[in-house]
Amino acid sequence: MSLTDREQLAIDQARVLLRESGVWDLEDDLSCLIDRYIERANKNRALDEFMLAVKERCNRIPLGHIVGTVEFDSMPLVVGSGVFIPRHHSKVIHKWLEASPVLKSGTIVLDLCAGSGAIGLAIARRRPDLKVTCVEVDEIAIQYLKRNVDRLANLGIQANHMQADILNTRAFTQFKNQVGLIVANPPYVPQFQELLPEWSNHHPKASVYSGTDGLELIRQIILLASELLSLEGWLAIEHGEEQAIAVRDLFEQRGFTNTQTIIDKETSDASGSSVMTTGCKSY
Ligand SMILES: C[S@@+](CC[C@H](N)C(=O)[O-])C[C@H]1O[C@@H](n2cnc3c(N)ncnc32)[C@H](O)[C@@H]1O
Repeated sequence: MSLTDREQLAIDQARVLLRESGVWDLEDDLSCLIDRYIERANKNRALDEFMLAVKERCNRIPLGHIVGTVEFDSMPLVVGSGVFIPRHHSKVIHKWLEASPVLKSGTIVLDLCAGSGAIGLAIARRRPDLKVTCVEVDEIAIQYLKRNVDRLANLGIQANHMQADILNTRAFTQFKNQVGLIVANPPYVPQFQELLPEWSNHHPKASVYSGTDGLELIRQIILLASELLSLEGWLAIEHGEEQAIAVRDLFEQRGFTNTQTIIDKETSDASGSSVMTTGCKSY
């Protein structure tokens, strides 16, 4: 296959970079990457792989787990088995942020229950002047989170990652009264609720379910936020449509004001509604 000058230049640069990084099987790795990302010429093999992928999808394996990446808010994120696939529903948070609270440059932002980092990284992309930290506890999910943070740093998107359990309040002492915005798409499905197989069978249970009423982690996030947010800091949590009243009550019980639930029809689809509640810490 003939290569363009640009392709040849990229391959030459790649060879140098791989050598410098200490990769031991340089030429094999390089030819695999060329085959995958530049040539894609072996049509027979491509067709076999296509049919294998279609069959996996028919078994309701999430598309992101099959193809290994997902596009979220114009960012290519690495995903795979063991991590929650970001849903475009979460863009409700970014739309709200563009329309609502004015965050000063340098404001600390936490994305709790970050999974692959989609929500926090999208904030970092849109607002490079904020200090975003994505927090995740799961051993597998944190690997994807770290990879995405490192990969996107190459595109100029800067965020931090932190492995911590949001149930362990002491792990967050450094943030006490320091945070201007906390966002979260936590697990919020009641334990016995039936879901599409993509979620019930092919996602880690701890990324989807949260106690009998689905609110266990949401309660903890509201409690943690009441300690970590600075005065007039904001909290935004995604949840199920039928949980709206209960979630607003929980916000108000902890003293949050200006609470509102937003249902975004544009980003809702057959797999569920796009719903979030926001509130401001005012005490
Ligand atoms: C619904 S997924 C959302 C992931 C990501 N925010 C997104 O929208 O793609 C919830 C995430 O919360 C994480 N999680 C569950 N319990 C947690 C805990 N106690 N502390 C921190 N993260 C937790 C799960 O591992 C999972 O990655």
